[in-house]
Amino acid sequence: MEGRYLINFDSRQLPYYETELLIIGGGIAGLYTAWKAAEIGLKPTVLTKGTIDDTNSGRAQGGIAAALGETDSPDLHYKDTILAGAGLCDFNAVKILVNEGPARVKELINIGANFDRCGKELAMTQEGAHSKKRILHAHGDATGAEIMRALAAQIKVQDKVELLEQYFVIDLLVDDNICYGALAFDENTGQCVVFWSKAVVLASGGAGQLYQYTTNPEVATGDGIAFAYRAGAEVMDMEFVQFHPTTLVLPEAPRFLISEAVRGEGAQLRNSRGERFMPRYHGMAELAPRDVVSRAILYEMAKTGEDCVYLDLTCLPRETIKKRFPTITATCARYGLDITRELIPVAPAAHYLMGGVKTNCHGETSVYGLYACGETACQGVHGANRLASNSLLDGLVFGNRIVDKVRNYIKLSAPEEHPHFSCQELFEPAGSFTCIKKELKHTMSENVGPLRTTQRLTQALAFFDKNSWLQKHRCRGPREMEVRNMLEVGRLIAEAAMMRTESRGGHFRLDFPETMSRWQKHIIIRR
Ligand code: SIN
Repeated sequence: MEGRYLINFDSRQLPYYETELLIIGGGIAGLYTAWKAAEIGLKPTVLTKGTIDDTNSGRAQGGIAAALGETDSPDLHYKDTILAGAGLCDFNAVKILVNEGPARVKELINIGANFDRCGKELAMTQEGAHSKKRILHAHGDATGAEIMRALAAQIKVQDKVELLEQYFVIDLLVDDNICYGALAFDENTGQCVVFWSKAVVLASGGAGQLYQYTTNPEVATGDGIAFAYRAGAEVMDMEFVQFHPTTLVLPEAPRFLISEAVRGEGAQLRNSRGERFMPRYHGMAELAPRDVVSRAILYEMAKTGEDCVYLDLTCLPRETIKKRFPTITATCARYGLDITRELIPVAPAAHYLMGGVKTNCHGETSVYGLYACGETACQGVHGANRLASNSLLDGLVFGNRIVDKVRNYIKLSAPEEHPHFSCQELFEPAGSFTCIKKELKHTMSENVGPLRTTQRLTQALAFFDKNSWLQKHRCRGPREMEVRNMLEVGRLIAEAAMMRTESRGGHFRLDFPETMSRWQKHIIIRR
């Protein structure tokens, strides 16, 4: 089949590792799953493309949502999640998330994750579309970093997880719809390696780098979704991309996230004329669902002709700002902005992919022995629009649910010879991939962004057609493989967005602005 593998290889000719459980990805979902798997006696190997210090999870600022407050309940958290998901949440997945979430967060506290407190009580803040203050945070706005620190420390103490950094997974080894492991490129040695494994868990994160502006790190190129799709796994809800409303817009500065918690603490959005505009768009004003706030900002930018709007924190006491948001304060200060006195220029940027590799509520994909959790996976828990601070929770809850299934699967799988895998294509000589990556980001941002039309999506699909010749090219290394993966995932997003002739959550069509009951269903794509 054309384009099944990114490179030519022969599994008999390559060095190999054998492991019981291969986990691809070292963010919260990957590390947590590894820890829990090791706890029940499995021997996991975690592969990360970069290092565990450079993940989306580690960048999470606002926090982790859990119904732990006295006046809160899983039921209220359930209602908020369903409402934000705009009619597409899987009810059972959401029930699992909100009911199992508090226990998972308590586990983090037990292993030393140091969440902020008000006296002895956990401090909780509010974020968009939450009806209660239920967002736990750490070191003010460094929640993800603290959770990752605690998990990494736990895994080190436990000493049962093999962590291999700088391994780029090229493709999954799937025969007769059974996953036997993965082919990877070891960036430390420059060699390809085969990982034979009884089960594989994909926890390789999202795809924000498909867009020009994103809160995601360089590594977020959608690789896991691309190689799972090439291997025959079903993907779902790919049209739903969440754009975070408030990322920093300053020359020289990256599109750094300005946490929604800032609005949760009372900051207001103003246009370039100084007018507060969110109350005109939604009853919850600055705390409306993210898709609503992002679109409102884009409309205000179009009206005023500016490339940003402004976040005004000056109503908050200086000391509160510095204590509550030390990372944001310091980052903005590095670019000459004192957020205790000045407004922060902000605009939306790609943040989170609701879609991904389709799983059930135990992380099982449509391929035997292949599981997925975290942002790579899609069991429908976020529907068409993720509720703020539900993503770290998702990584824990669904990572945990994979473990028992994997144990049973491994127990049942007979020790057998691995099939022979190889690819010997007549690849054409390689051209330059770098300019294609730039064009891809431009195409996705212009045509498959927060405001879509048939015309824009047609242009995007034409771009993918034009570049389909790349499938016949041998990738010379991980950076070129990333471009191939980005093209694969970008096309999936554009195709699904074209199919869905309505607007819902993170998918907005200017030419089909209404939400239609006939579209209250998922788009599932399989190669
Ligand atoms: C934020 O802090 O605004 C991001 C949190 C999230 O994406 O849930």
